[in-house]
Amino acid sequence: MRVLGIETTCDESAAAVVRLPPGGAGEILSNEVLSQIAEHAAYGGVVPEIAARAHIEVIDRLVERALERAGTRLTDLDAIAAAAGPGLIGGIIVGLTTGKALALASGKPFIAVNHLEAHALTARLTDELAFPYLLLLVSGGHTQLVAVKGVGDYLRLGSTVDDAVGEAFDKVAKMLDLPYPGGPEVERLAQEGDPERFVLPRPMLGRAKPDFSFSGLKTAVRLELERVGARSPDDVADLCASFQAAAVDTIIDRTRAGLRLFRERLGQANAMVVAGGVAANSAIRRALMRLGGETGVRLVLPPPQLCTDNAAMIAWAGIERLSLGLVDDMSFAARARWPLDANAEDVHHGKA
Ligand code: KG4
Ligand code: ZN
Repeated sequence: MRVLGIETTCDESAAAVVRLPPGGAGEILSNEVLSQIAEHAAYGGVVPEIAARAHIEVIDRLVERALERAGTRLTDLDAIAAAAGPGLIGGIIVGLTTGKALALASGKPFIAVNHLEAHALTARLTDELAFPYLLLLVSGGHTQLVAVKGVGDYLRLGSTVDDAVGEAFDKVAKMLDLPYPGGPEVERLAQEGDPERFVLPRPMLGRAKPDFSFSGLKTAVRLELERVGARSPDDVADLCASFQAAAVDTIIDRTRAGLRLFRERLGQANAMVVAGGVAANSAIRRALMRLGGETGVRLVLPPPQLCTDNAAMIAWAGIERLSLGLVDDMSFAARARWPLDANAEDVHHGKA
């Protein structure tokens, strides 16, 4: 089975080919990603109109390159998968339309993939892993703990009630005049800073329900910054380190609560899995390894380039769905909002 994946839901344009040999493991044949960071940097965040136009400019070339690098012709594919949401609608339409057009032209099945489901299933591409497992999804738009029971079968255990953790990293970076996107910058500076200099809150710590909150932490950073006044490089590094330490403590405590709730509802999890851009953060990765050791729950950490947005995860989700006979027709519309668990109440502020 060989599937082309297309991803355009945010500020990464991506195309990839993934193969699943009979009885074997998933194999990434190509994985092309073009980040639009340079286009958005001047605005300190993603501008939807700029994103959509940038996707249009590169998507054809990216698909061509992904096929070429994979040594695959359109006719060799078993299906074409494109992310159909959630995300920025203008960008989604670009990838979705490209995917549909290629499917129509080649007569291959088309699969509309939920971007969050693609993050959730990535661990089954990189590792041999059976359902059910606990997913910690930490990105710029999402912070959730989800029980992954099967393809298309999700139970949201907890979610952020305000900002996503990646958003908090980005906002703290902005306060400190660090370049966009802020997450990697905050991580880099935190390595030189003192995590104990500033005493910052750990929101939601100790609560049974595995929800998250980051807006209070962000405000506390702002107040400390105002207190410091004219800041030195050391002040900035210490703030980054103190903020990151608070974020890590919160994530670990909430994941521990998520594992507990998972066990109560569904029995022992086969693993805990991390996905989303913030999962590239090495302090978070190290802390999760400690949590795995302490709880005895297997930890699956996909490599950082498969944690951030990419199209290999879309192609893989396509393979998972195609294996179950799940294909879509040309009427499938782009979705700005598309929660994994349709029954979960919406505690988040607008983003799916
Ligand atoms: O999953 P992603 O690539 O895009 C979506 O939001 O869907 O995640 C991007 C987010 C940004 O907020 C970025 O600052 C954050 O992930 N991020 C990081 C790191 N690398 C990316 N946050 C903390 N540490 C990092 N090393
Ligand atoms: Zn994402």
